[in-house]
Amino acid sequence: CGIVGYVGPRPSQDILLAGLARLEYRGYDSAGIAVIDESGDLGMRKKAGKLSVLRDSLGDATLAAGSTGIGHTRWATHGGPTDENAHPHLADDDKLAVIHNGIIENFAVLRDELLADGVAFLSETDTEVAAALLGREYRETGDLEKAFRNVVNRLEGAFTLLALHQDQPGLVVGARRNSPLVIGLGEGENFLGSDVAAFVEHTRNALAIGQDQIVSITPDAVTVTDFAGTPVEPEPFEVSWDAAAADKGGWSSFMAKEVSEQPEAIANTIRGRLQDGQVVIPELDGLDDLFVGINRVIITACGTASYAALVGKYAIEQWARVPVDVELAHEFRYRDPVIGDDTLVVSISQSGETMDTLMAVKYARERGARTLSICNTQGATIPRESDAVVYTHAGPEVAVASTKAFSAQITALLLLGLHMGRVRGTVADASTDVAELQALPDKIARVLNEEQEHVAQLARWMADTRSVLFLGRHVGYPIALEGALKLKEISYIHAEGFAAGELKHGPIALIEPGQPVFVLVPSPRHSALVHSKVVSNIQEIRARGARVIVVAEEGDAAVLPYADEVIHIPLAGAMFEPVLAVVPLQIFAMALATAKGLDVDQPRNLAKSVTVE
Ligand code: G6P
Repeated sequence: CGIVGYVGPRPSQDILLAGLARLEYRGYDSAGIAVIDESGDLGMRKKAGKLSVLRDSLGDATLAAGSTGIGHTRWATHGGPTDENAHPHLADDDKLAVIHNGIIENFAVLRDELLADGVAFLSETDTEVAAALLGREYRETGDLEKAFRNVVNRLEGAFTLLALHQDQPGLVVGARRNSPLVIGLGEGENFLGSDVAAFVEHTRNALAIGQDQIVSITPDAVTVTDFAGTPVEPEPFEVSWDAAAADKGGWSSFMAKEVSEQPEAIANTIRGRLQDGQVVIPELDGLDDLFVGINRVIITACGTASYAALVGKYAIEQWARVPVDVELAHEFRYRDPVIGDDTLVVSISQSGETMDTLMAVKYARERGARTLSICNTQGATIPRESDAVVYTHAGPEVAVASTKAFSAQITALLLLGLHMGRVRGTVADASTDVAELQALPDKIARVLNEEQEHVAQLARWMADTRSVLFLGRHVGYPIALEGALKLKEISYIHAEGFAAGELKHGPIALIEPGQPVFVLVPSPRHSALVHSKVVSNIQEIRARGARVIVVAEEGDAAVLPYADEVIHIPLAGAMFEPVLAVVPLQIFAMALATAKGLDVDQPRNLAKSVTVE
């Protein structure tokens, strides 16, 4: 979901719609705005469907001139994506509007209380309950800030809540618990947003709001308090990218743009973190305690980030000599894992807002573990809930299917592994690895230049394919999983990734003549044995009629006799190969989806940032 709030001298409708457009990438299926209009009345419009539907329905509405407003895009959880269920929700005789992101867990109890009070509800949503509660409190207190504080104190669950009241123009109040909200500071105007993309075209000065805090914005002031009303000092930060970075530029899609930005994303993630042939991450300065005396690392994440985590397992174990497990965040929390103060829990999240991952981090902390997050979004919740953060500097990722954030996550994990190895005394000389890291951006650029058209052509030929398999070993295994996920996400083709060695234990039954199979072939220079095993796996599927597309290092002649197609990647160290090998798979998924006429940036049913469990 996306949330925007504005107070200032300018008409807010356009600012809200533009902000919501920049948050479109988060995924949504309905949208709405509420504005205190020219005549001082509250105007509201909301529609199921894309923002264009809302925009068309606004026509010449008088909302246009009002300068205090809130806007929302909703991704349906409770109740389908209908006009009624869309936000804002109104109360107090339509003088008050509320938008909400998250889930209010005790809404049934609150609704019963309000029903007993004679309140009638129009929708099935938990948000309407919050609105009605706020309406009742406002009538009793006549003060929006006070009423709002009373309400948020009664809500359980996860929420970002924004409200305005026509009797208090020039004021928007907001609160957050386990759900994102940031403040944008303008001159004579202020903003609220789910993330900085909502307002970055107006200001790059931002304030991060902490957990369980309430904010009031007026054109000239910003006040932040805790839920008890005690003032707190919000943390200022400057957005490191400008609005142009979140624009499509001349690209056909955000995904195409982001795939091509990978050399830069990786270079930016490495920058400032290499020193005299070693990896030194400045943000971890003074935090050696996180890494010394631990017996175990657990990396937790969801979706694409969980595949980056799997690469991290190989790298951290190799360099820092500590056992590493990878666990999906939503599984981790609902069992009774053996963790304590000797465990480091590393979370990975592009958005820093994925609720499953956030809850895993909180759980790990409660259990006494040390926590570190790898995140691409400044001011996001997960880094704020962790003992330390290593940011990926991939820049804003807009397309729902993650690409540059994934390669940047792997890069950050490689950096972390080498940093930990240095601190733990298991890596004495990292100069070769440092050189490998430095060479990555140019090598990705080569894959893009030399293989883009070849892979895209292959995808176009395969546009009618109904199923594709991906095989890999060692760090190629997570890349096989990621290649399959990309294809599922954006081209809706059935795809599966397997560890190549596992094939003969079951999945090989899927192979029939013509079945396309991508095989990620590790360099024979790293391990002749692993390489030869993968070549044997290729022979096994070739013998059963599979159409084999290999991703192999330049000069690997041994695979040529068995491959129907070869995609080349430059020579790289074993741990560094995944960053290169994933690029053709991203291009393949994108080109195939495009050939099928699909919207690669906003695949059906998916949201960029899933802020519900
Ligand atoms: C959603 C997205 C995926 C993403 C996952 C984790 O499901 O659709 O593309 O990989 O969330 O997102 P995060 O922001 O935590 O990396």
